[in-house]
Amino acid sequence: MDSFATRSEPNSQEMQNKSFHSYRYSVAPMMDWTDRHCRYFHRLMSRYTLLYTEMVSASAIVKGDIDRLLAHDQMEYPLALQIGGAEPRELSEAVDLCADRGFYEINLNAGCPSSKVQEGCFGVALMQDRRRVAECLEAMQQASRGIEVTIKCRLGVDDQNPHDTLPLFIETVESLGIKRIIIHARKAWLKGLSPKQNREIPPLDYDLVIQMKREFPDLKICINGGIQSLDQAAYFLDQGLDGVMVGRAAYRYPADLLLTADKKIFGMDDPCRDHSEILSEMWQYLEWHQQKGSKLTPITRHMLGLFAGCPGARRWRQELSNPAINSPHGLTIIRQLISDLGSSLSFESHTGEA
Ligand SMILES: Cc1cc2nc3c(=O)[nH]c(=O)nc-3n(C[C@H](O)[C@H](O)[C@H](O)COP(=O)(O)O)c2cc1C
Repeated sequence: MDSFATRSEPNSQEMQNKSFHSYRYSVAPMMDWTDRHCRYFHRLMSRYTLLYTEMVSASAIVKGDIDRLLAHDQMEYPLALQIGGAEPRELSEAVDLCADRGFYEINLNAGCPSSKVQEGCFGVALMQDRRRVAECLEAMQQASRGIEVTIKCRLGVDDQNPHDTLPLFIETVESLGIKRIIIHARKAWLKGLSPKQNREIPPLDYDLVIQMKREFPDLKICINGGIQSLDQAAYFLDQGLDGVMVGRAAYRYPADLLLTADKKIFGMDDPCRDHSEILSEMWQYLEWHQQKGSKLTPITRHMLGLFAGCPGARRWRQELSNPAINSPHGLTIIRQLISDLGSSLSFESHTGEA
């Protein structure tokens, strides 16, 4: 594979071991955000956190340029692929095409409320049709050649009462032999709210997710939605949940949410990289991409939050997103920026916990 990262150190034996559960802590699938550059950057900060791809639609996998759509590097492992779809045959075909590509898990999106997703009647709309969910998951499992199939959902959709409908949904999922579900702890409204509003306005109900774990003790349940710190993640694990998925906070404050995750969540003693090591690794990555003639802002845009909360963070963000970064002098600008900001750039936590 034409890749920078294949030259990096492979992941450790612990993760090859099936009893090691990377899903205890994961970074959520986020369209346009968790692309391979982002995942490369996140992986430098945590070896054990499970990373998710952006959602890839089953029809794109079946009809499109699969090598480009699923391009990733072993360095990103453990890596889960999220698929969107609602046609069992198409999902089966898509999973069949993906099953030997090294993914840790293949996840079905039943939580996304964007208009595109609604047109295809998949994403969270699936929560209104349990029979179809069952057909989709069954088809995916049959095609997966042993790769774990999971599902990510909301508490419910539109005027569903989650206290009634969520247990029925989970019962359906569990009856198919699915072993793990990720629940974004809020409902979605298909009409009237934008996807962004749907991530903010419907209230979070963490207690209902914890209650679901009590009602379905054999199912692995991961919680998602509004989680802001590693301490909060540890709290949910203490409550008996099997995993915690973080989205926006991990993207905006990657150092806080990832740098000490291996120690705090996975109990690993591996030394965590410091900021100069991460910058140096990213520098080489940028250099490699520049030599290939690629633009650098598609990479640097994921690094804007690296120094969130520190003095100099604003300038870091502004300069790193400046189109001048894509000029032949891009790397020189970054080098100058690091040198100017010097010691003011450090990994101090915005929450005070890192
Ligand atoms: C920019 C963006 C894109 C997203 N794309 C997806 C997606 O492709 N699939 C999905 O299941 N959820 C998607 N989500 C939702 C997140 O996975 C997550 O469920 C949500 O942001 C709540 O978690 P958080 O509060 O920790 O961010 C997206 C969220 C954001 C902010």
